[in-house]
Amino acid sequence: MAVNRSDGPETPRSLQQHWEDVYAARDPGEASWYQTTPTASLSLIRASSVSPSTKIIDIGGGASTLADHLLGEGFSDITVLDISANAIAGAQQRLGPAASRVQWITADITTWQPETQYGIWHDRAVFHFLTNAGDRDAYRAALTRALLPGGSAIFSTFSLDGPERCSGLPVQRYSPESLAAELGCGLTLVESVTEDHHTPAGAIQRFVYCRFTR
Ligand SMILES: C[S@@+](CC[C@H](N)C(=O)[O-])C[C@H]1O[C@@H](n2cnc3c(N)ncnc32)[C@H](O)[C@@H]1O
Repeated sequence: MAVNRSDGPETPRSLQQHWEDVYAARDPGEASWYQTTPTASLSLIRASSVSPSTKIIDIGGGASTLADHLLGEGFSDITVLDISANAIAGAQQRLGPAASRVQWITADITTWQPETQYGIWHDRAVFHFLTNAGDRDAYRAALTRALLPGGSAIFSTFSLDGPERCSGLPVQRYSPESLAAELGCGLTLVESVTEDHHTPAGAIQRFVYCRFTR
């Protein structure tokens, strides 16, 4: 998969390089999507009737603080997957010695081959970058393989009245119903909430969060 520079020559470059450059250019806490506390995600994870030993994977977790909070809540089997090694390095640096209690995977979700199954699949602001049907098919294949029967999938995307782009890339915006229809995968929509995310630069971005069970 390739993306075109929006700020320079029309030279195709890899999606991974795009995200490596994004994370190399600034401190993770300055990214528009940064949250000190991922309140809505934590609330939906708690609502999923999980035990501390439930295997949780954060898809495109980047340098999110979700892993820090999950460790703080006693979760013991946390995996963070991201296409950017720089993002993962940022999260590991922030966590310090606690980073060794998290499993880290540098991979593109559209080509990743899961080797185990998880009770919670979490994705905030990653699926909405997949504007190509083939990439969404590949994502669904990974989700179908990696989510345990009875497990929960928690997704957050820009809502229908949210931004049309993020990090220089176009996004696909969703309602709970359109996200449920797009995902399929035998998922049942249990609940949804909207959140007005205040970016570090002071903008407001409307997200929709959905909790599904399989
Ligand atoms: C908008 S950021 C959100 C980060 C994090 N989920 C959060 O809420 O703070 C999108 C993240 O998805 C990652 N990403 C984008 N495309 C990806 C892909 N195809 N596979 C895996 N990660 C991807 C990026 O590196 C970045 O960390």
